[in-house]
Amino acid sequence: MTIAIVVLISGRGSNLQSIIDAVDRGELPARIAAVISNEADALGLTRAQQAGIQTRVLNHRGFADRNDYDLTLRDLVAEYYPDLTVLAGFMRILGPQFVGHFEGRIMNIHPSLLPKYRGLNTHERALADRAREHGASVHFVTTDLDAGPIIIQTKVPIYEDDSPEILAERVLKEEHRILPQAIRWFAEDRLRIAEGHVLLDGETRPEQGLTYHLQ
Ligand code: GAR
Repeated sequence: MTIAIVVLISGRGSNLQSIIDAVDRGELPARIAAVISNEADALGLTRAQQAGIQTRVLNHRGFADRNDYDLTLRDLVAEYYPDLTVLAGFMRILGPQFVGHFEGRIMNIHPSLLPKYRGLNTHERALADRAREHGASVHFVTTDLDAGPIIIQTKVPIYEDDSPEILAERVLKEEHRILPQAIRWFAEDRLRIAEGHVLLDGETRPEQGLTYHLQ
């Protein structure tokens, strides 16, 4: 079975590209039904168009409030009947109107080892803390920002002379591995949430903070 995915982006779209590439390689039983951006000039929109994927723009500016935007975005996403909505560098906070509608069927990629460094500027904050390691997480989205159940994480080392940009690049390479992996598990019907925990093949995932190592 092939699942339908809607991908939400705000910018560069390199994670989107990793999904497109995985689908093209036949590694993901999925079809990207649409890519939706809140920014009209997002590079990811061009990537989607080049791959023949339908794109939509829903600019958040001009909406009366967050709730109003969420409702409109919800209806736009729902037009595509997605089995899964993937936030791939989507830089807006989504509230209950959106999240509640697609509960258990929204994933986000976040550039930190959650629960560390929720929110923005994760690389800068890890460096400022003199952390020894950093990483990325894919998690199911709940109304708590960057706090939903974690599906997969990956770690990278931090070196003495790292800049935020160099560290971001090291993490991004890993993001491009774990996001398609998480989507594949979902598409293969191997992922579930039970009482707030992620189950893979019926087994509870390690508690938040532990890392799943890719083979
Ligand atoms: C990625 O590093 C992603 O983890 C991050 O934005 C970047 C988007 O890059 N997302 C967040 O910070 C969400 N809070 P991309 O557009 O090249 O995929």
